[in-house]
Amino acid sequence: MSEPATVSARSAWAALHAVATRPGATAIAAKLDADPARVPRLSFRGGGLLLDLSRTALDEAALGALHELGRATGVLAFRDAMARGEAVNGTERRAALHIALRAPSGGFRTGGEDASGAVRGTLEAMRALAKSVHHGDVTGAMGEPFRDVVNIGIGGSDLGPAMVTRALWRPDMPMRAHYLANVDGHAWEALRPQLDPRRTLVLVASKTFTTQETMANARLVKAWLADALGAEAAGRHLAALSTNLPATAAFGIAPERVFGFRDWVGGRFSLWSAVGLSTALACGFEIFERLLAGARAMDAHFLAAPAESNLPFLLAATEVWHVNALGHPARAVLPYDERLARLPAHLQQLEMESLGKRVTMTGAPVPHRTGPVVFGEPGTNAQHSFMQLIHQGATPVPVDFVLVARPDHDHAESHRILLANGLAQAEALARGRMAEQAHAEMLAAGMPAAEADRLAPHRAFPGDRPSVTILLPALTPEALGGLVALYEHKVACLGAFWGVNPFDQWGVELGKQLAGGTLAALEGCAAAADPATAAMVAAIREQWA
Ligand code: F6P
Repeated sequence: MSEPATVSARSAWAALHAVATRPGATAIAAKLDADPARVPRLSFRGGGLLLDLSRTALDEAALGALHELGRATGVLAFRDAMARGEAVNGTERRAALHIALRAPSGGFRTGGEDASGAVRGTLEAMRALAKSVHHGDVTGAMGEPFRDVVNIGIGGSDLGPAMVTRALWRPDMPMRAHYLANVDGHAWEALRPQLDPRRTLVLVASKTFTTQETMANARLVKAWLADALGAEAAGRHLAALSTNLPATAAFGIAPERVFGFRDWVGGRFSLWSAVGLSTALACGFEIFERLLAGARAMDAHFLAAPAESNLPFLLAATEVWHVNALGHPARAVLPYDERLARLPAHLQQLEMESLGKRVTMTGAPVPHRTGPVVFGEPGTNAQHSFMQLIHQGATPVPVDFVLVARPDHDHAESHRILLANGLAQAEALARGRMAEQAHAEMLAAGMPAAEADRLAPHRAFPGDRPSVTILLPALTPEALGGLVALYEHKVACLGAFWGVNPFDQWGVELGKQLAGGTLAALEGCAAAADPATAAMVAAIREQWA
C-alpha cells in the first residue's frame, strides 16, 4: 500500500485542502439550485442500490481532487491487492478475503489455496444442519424440535448476525434467534425465561474462542443446559463457530458441531461465514444464500467499476471530504426502517474498529484525521433525540440516510410518513431556513414583531449541512447484502486513503490485559496498581461487604 507521505500523495492532500478553502466550497443549496444536472450527475447505481451524493458540497473540483488523492494513495490498487489475497492486513500478516465468503468456488485465492472453494464445505455443512433442524431430523436430547437458537458472541461474532437477523426475520420463519453478547448476568437473566432448554440450540460464536465475555457466557449457558438435561445431553444442544478447533474441543463441543472459518475472515467482516449460522437457522438457509448473493453483486461492482462510478470508492471519498477537507469529526447513520435498528451498531464496529487508527501501516504517525465517530438510530426516532444538534449545533455532522422504498407491511400511510420524514430531514439540512424567512413566517402567523425579532435566531437553520442518501428498493436479503458489502468496501477504501490498516484492532488489547489484574483486585487477591482503580475497587468491595 502506498504511504500518504509520498510526494504525490502530499501534493494531492494539499490540492484537496486548497479546493476545500475556496469561497463557496461548503455550499450545498446554492449548488443544487444552480445546476439542474447536479442530482443525476451525483446519483450512482451499483449492486442494486442507489446512492445520492447531491446533498454534499462535492463539486467537480472537489471530486477531481479526491480522485487524484485516490490515485496517489493507491485506493484501487489496495482493492486489487485485497482481491488477490495478498496480506493487506500487514500487522497480522494476513489476507482480508471476506469477499471469498460469498464467491463461487475458484473465485478468490490466498496462500496457494482456493479460498472460495474452502468456504463451500462449511456452507454445505451449515445448509445441512439448518435443513435437519428445520425438518426435525436433528432435535434436542429429549427428542423435542429446536425452536430457539441462542448465539453467544460479542463484537463481530454478535453485531453482524444480530443486525442481519433482525432485519430479515419474519414471524413465519423457522426459528427464533437470540443474541447474548454482554458478560453482564442481567443479559442472561433477561433471556433465560424466554427459553426452554429442551428446545434451545446454543451457538458459541468466537473466532478466537478465548474472548473472556463469550467464554464466561458459554460456561453459564452450558451449565444451564446441563442442569436441565444432564451433562451428556447438553452437548447435543451446543455448536461452535470458530477458527480455534483445539479450544472448541476442550470446551466439549463435538467436531461435527464445529463450523470453522479461516483467519483471513476478520471478526467484523464475518457475518457471511459460519458466524452467520444463527441467521441461517432463524431465517432459513435460502435467505442466507440470498444475502450472500446481494453482497456478491456489490463485490462485482466494487471490483469492476471505475472510481468515477464506484459506490464504495465514492462513499469513502465523500468521507475524506467531510473528515479531512471540511474537518467534520463525526457522522450519523439513520436507517428509516425499524428492522435496520442495529445497522448503526454494526457500522460502529465495522468503521470505528477498522479506522480508529493513528499510525500508518509502517508505524509512522498519520499526518491527518482518520475515522470519525459513527453513531445513529432509526428515523424517525432520531429526529426526536439528536437531530437538534445536527440541524442547529455548532459543528456539522454529515448524515447517511438509508431509505427503503417498498415496505413489507400493508400500512401504506405509515410508510409514506416515514419516508416523507427521511426525505424532509435531508432537505432541511441542505437548505436550512434563514433568519429572515423564519421572521417573516412568524409575522405571517400573527406574532408581534418584537417577539419575532427575539425568536428569529433560534428558529433559523444554517443549512448547507451535508448528507448522503442510500435507497434500497425493498429490505430484501439481496439489498441488505449489498448495503453491508458497500460499507465494508468503503472501509477498505478509507484504509488506503488514510494509509492505515483497516483490518487489525490492537486498540482493544490494553483494556483486556488490564481487566485480568482488575478482576484479581475485585476478588481481593491483589491490589490494583492505579490509584483511581484501587479507590473504586475499594468502594465496590465496601458495597459487597
Ligand atoms: O473487540 C475485539 C474483538 O477482537 C473484535 O474484533 C471481535 O469481533 C470480537 O473481539 C470478538 O472476538 P472473537 O470472535 O474472537 O470472540
